[in-house]
Amino acid sequence: MNAFVTGGSRGIGREIVLKFVKEGCGCAFTYASNKAAAEEVLSAAAALDPKAVVKAYELDVKDSKAIEAVAETAIADFGDIFAVVNNAAVVRNNAAALMSDDEWNEVIRTDLSGPFFVIRSFLMHLLSNKAGRIVNISSLAQGGTSGQVNYAAAKSGLIGLTKTLAREYGVKGITTNIVTVGYVETAMTRDHLSEKLHEIWMKYCPMKRVGEASEIASLVHYLTTPDAGFINGEVIRVSGGLTYVP
Ligand SMILES: NC(=O)c1ccc[n+]([C@@H]2O[C@H](COP(=O)([O-])OP(=O)(O)OC[C@H]3O[C@@H](n4cnc5c(N)ncnc54)[C@H](OP(=O)(O)O)[C@@H]3O)[C@@H](O)[C@H]2O)c1
Repeated sequence: MNAFVTGGSRGIGREIVLKFVKEGCGCAFTYASNKAAAEEVLSAAAALDPKAVVKAYELDVKDSKAIEAVAETAIADFGDIFAVVNNAAVVRNNAAALMSDDEWNEVIRTDLSGPFFVIRSFLMHLLSNKAGRIVNISSLAQGGTSGQVNYAAAKSGLIGLTKTLAREYGVKGITTNIVTVGYVETAMTRDHLSEKLHEIWMKYCPMKRVGEASEIASLVHYLTTPDAGFINGEVIRVSGGLTYVP
């Protein structure tokens, strides 16, 4: 089985790529610009399994034409892609009253339009196989969080997109699900969330800890396995039991 993962060069995406490799899958993954990070993931994958077929592709998910080209190349390189994971995302935090057009557009285009373009680019391939798995990544922020009106809108929009695809393509053997992530320490949380939010998270999270990227990766991989074949259109939270951003 081969998977395609966006934003596989760092953080949660890196762990998703390595989980697929550990489970004996081939993996095509993308990165926006950080080639060195992508090469590190290729080395880590080779260390796990020297025979694993893993390839990195530079891609800006805001560019639908570039996505179509990368999807075509990945399908040609791997022969077949079964699972598509939309993980890449950015944040540009600001109070709604102060948010610029650029901050709004960058997040909506990367975190909502990007996943749609990626899915659209692979759908004919999945349909011709009469089988496939789509896994999207949302955030607890989708329920509303101060300073992230753009991110919350994109991540909740992704839930509607997921449920619609589940209805349109379940009958064709393609499942679509979405994983709602709580708090995982990555560049995204280190660079863009305050120490105060971290403290509040530790106070209110029933498990009194943040998540591990590998704990997200395990669920993403599971959703692509035969055992998960009847799970479709689900929103599954991995957040240590916290249901909202405190
Ligand atoms: N970390 C958390 O606590 C948390 C919580 C809730 C949800 N999430 C979600 O989990 C996913 C992964 O987050 P993370 O924390 O692992 O993020 P991260 O560490 O910031 O990594 C982001 C990844 O996305 C890629 N990327 C950024 N902009 C892109 C673009 N325009 N086109 C293509 N790729 C792009 C980056 O590539 P480069 O390396 O080249 O920059 C990188 O691989 C995201 O969907 C995020 O919203 C995370």
